[in-house]
Amino acid sequence: MTTVLTYGTFDLLHVGHVRLLRRLKALGDTLIVGVSTDAFNELKGKSSIYPFAERREIIEALGFVDQVIAEEHWEQKRDDVQTYNVDILAMGDDWVGEFDDIAGDVEVIYLPRTEGISTTDIKTVISRVEEDKIFALEQAVSQVGRLVKKLRD
Ligand code: CTP
Repeated sequence: MTTVLTYGTFDLLHVGHVRLLRRLKALGDTLIVGVSTDAFNELKGKSSIYPFAERREIIEALGFVDQVIAEEHWEQKRDDVQTYNVDILAMGDDWVGEFDDIAGDVEVIYLPRTEGISTTDIKTVISRVEEDKIFALEQAVSQVGRLVKKLRD
């Protein structure tokens, strides 16, 4: 039995996350996902749209994920590897080299990310849509203002 472990925030679940987790499950029999808690994200200087409990629930709902645990601090990886009898610790390649020091206890591998998508990209697109809406609203308000002024004059 091969157990694979990975970690991440997994906010606004997207196809890059799904493809990574699917590939990780294919590497073994059991896939465990450590989802970063809100407090740990804060420590990393990251914020999420969905709170931890919801991100956890979404990852748990994926058929190819066997277990979800909370990722609460940087140092827990070595303990988790022992606790869950992990054979492979795997991350996307944005983390290359970061966890090599855990090697010895476990095989550490980095998988290529899916190109062209990230939670940050999605947040940027959404905030642009909001900005466009505000701009359109401002234009409409100033047009109405001009019209009212014309009617008064
Ligand atoms: N990941 C991936 N392909 C992507 C995006 C993420 O394989 N296009 C992987 C990451 O390498 C990581 C895991 O998914 O191992 C969780 O990444 P996370 O940081 O939660 O997702 P991102 O979309 O990278 O979020 P952000 O933009 O906030 O960094």
